[in-house]
Amino acid sequence: MPRRDSPGPESWETLFTGISHLVTPAPGPQRGPAMRELTVVEDAALLVQGGLVAWVGPRRDAPRTPSTRDLGGVAVVPGLVDPHTHAVWAGDRLADFEARLAGVPYEEMLARGGGIRSTVRATAAAPMEELVQLARPRLEALARSGATTVEVKSGYGLDFEAEVRMLRAVRELQSLLSVTLLPTLLIHVPPETGRAAYVQAVCAELIPQVAGEGLAVAVDVFCEREAFTVGETRAILSAARGHDLGVKLHADQFHALGGVELACDLGALSVDHLEASGPAQIVALAASETVATVLPGVTLHLGLPAAPARALIDAGACVAVGTDLNPGSSPLFNAGLALALAVRLNGLTPAEALTAGTVNAAAALGLRDRGALAAGQRADFLALHSPDWRDLVYTLGASPVRDVFVGGERISL
Ligand code: NIG
Ligand code: FE
Repeated sequence: MPRRDSPGPESWETLFTGISHLVTPAPGPQRGPAMRELTVVEDAALLVQGGLVAWVGPRRDAPRTPSTRDLGGVAVVPGLVDPHTHAVWAGDRLADFEARLAGVPYEEMLARGGGIRSTVRATAAAPMEELVQLARPRLEALARSGATTVEVKSGYGLDFEAEVRMLRAVRELQSLLSVTLLPTLLIHVPPETGRAAYVQAVCAELIPQVAGEGLAVAVDVFCEREAFTVGETRAILSAARGHDLGVKLHADQFHALGGVELACDLGALSVDHLEASGPAQIVALAASETVATVLPGVTLHLGLPAAPARALIDAGACVAVGTDLNPGSSPLFNAGLALALAVRLNGLTPAEALTAGTVNAAAALGLRDRGALAAGQRADFLALHSPDWRDLVYTLGASPVRDVFVGGERISL
């Protein structure tokens, strides 16, 4: 249960020692070869003041402080950022899973009114308290896996009241959990009839309401053949921009329809999925500030091609990795495992994966204050079981993460 341990009087300033290696990317988004440039400090110390990193360096050079905490000789890395989840849902997709294993494609289930639409029916019928109860253990699992910041999308509501209920559930979850939650309004599936009027109402009613109540920091659209067209996506994201909300896209999951190009043109925070992206999309992303977020859980669970993260990094793009935790395409409740899969399935090096899951994932959420262990950054960090940080992306099926610190305080897991 990730709540902060009660802070002692010394908690304003603590020097952490017993760090075999402190390993971190530089602050801010990193692209191309810079994704591999980690700073490694052997026998390190980390000074936390008021929830922020105040100093990092070799232990022998550390400033003197009354309060020290020995971590026992293990590796320390920044807290992970999961930039893409659909952690709030009701019902399950176990029958879908079996049907898919028997050969029915995911898109076909959606086209037949199943898939995402079945989760929409169950979620729209659930009261907010039930959504909170269902989502809480999922977010606790992500926190245990090392995620100290997690994006959570709506998108299973369809009708506006249910979308707003999902976002209110995220607000309630934030009051129960120590990790930071970033709520995103996701416009996910069009209604079966009256889609033009629906898009119009999303722009004129839903987005203004969500912005007015401060219920989301960004708007995302699923741009795909079975979902929204490029034109509809542009209209919705332009309305979001008009209300000072960040913009993001689900694009190129099954078909490269132009969603990536739209994301780059709009200067979106991120464009996510990219399993169907090819050379033209890679060139566009390499030339833009938009973060390319890949979701290896989807590749594993749906058997889709892996997004071309290796080629994106080689071309100079800024790549992030997320779990895409959701019941249909990625039941992956572990942010470290998403990085481990990105190494195996998308061809990232361990160093690139750490950067993708920290500073670059933070940039995909418009955040630059976290993801690196450097003076001025949030003191969100992980103490591993191992003295070698690479265990984070090597281990499969057991947790390489021993302790999770948020703002310099250990959360109980
Ligand atoms: O990111 N692609 C669309 N949306 C989700 C899946 C949601 C679902 O299948 O329930 C995704 O993969
Ligand atoms: Fe998604």
